[in-house]
Amino acid sequence: MVRKLPETLISEEAIAKRVKEIAAQISSDYEGKGEIMLLGVLKGAFIFLADISRRLTIPRSIEFIAVSNYEHGDVPSGAVRLVMDVRESIEGRHVIIVEDIIDTGQTIHYLIDMLKSRGPASIKTCALLHKKHKTDMEVDYLGFSIGDEWVVGYGLDFAEHDRTLPYIGVVKPE
Ligand code: IMP
Ligand code: MG
Repeated sequence: MVRKLPETLISEEAIAKRVKEIAAQISSDYEGKGEIMLLGVLKGAFIFLADISRRLTIPRSIEFIAVSNYEHGDVPSGAVRLVMDVRESIEGRHVIIVEDIIDTGQTIHYLIDMLKSRGPASIKTCALLHKKHKTDMEVDYLGFSIGDEWVVGYGLDFAEHDRTLPYIGVVKPE
């Protein structure tokens, strides 16, 4: 059976252009401040983090953290759960949390609160997408604002499907 691919919301080219701009902005903001830590939130941010990190012109290290909140597809379970902690200490480090998407803001707020208590030099947020209708929180480095729709591709999934699509597509209700 040939499955219809999700409709394109943001093309590969548009993503690449925006990633380049964000990486340039981060590189300029942290110039001369020493090594930054890019902390990717698994699994969704892995492709975005890979692309951003390769475009930076400043010293950086790559770390990951894993949380879980949407246990079954797109139905929020309510609580954010830490599945895998950062391996390195973040004390005294300039940390940038790299997320795929901010929806209600629950996940990013949970992470900011937890990480702040560990004494980093600074914490900023970088997200590819933001569904602005639910929270107007400011993201320090944002790719795109989108509407209230479920998106997949470029790291994002729907129940583990379509994570490796090269573009951002929209999942239409059946
Ligand atoms: P929040 O805690 O409500 O902000 O949700 C953020 C997390 O939910 C993200 O890190 C994603 O893993 C997941 N998520 C929210 N919306 C989408 C979507 O449209 N597609 C894929 N994952 C999503
Ligand atoms: Mg995520």
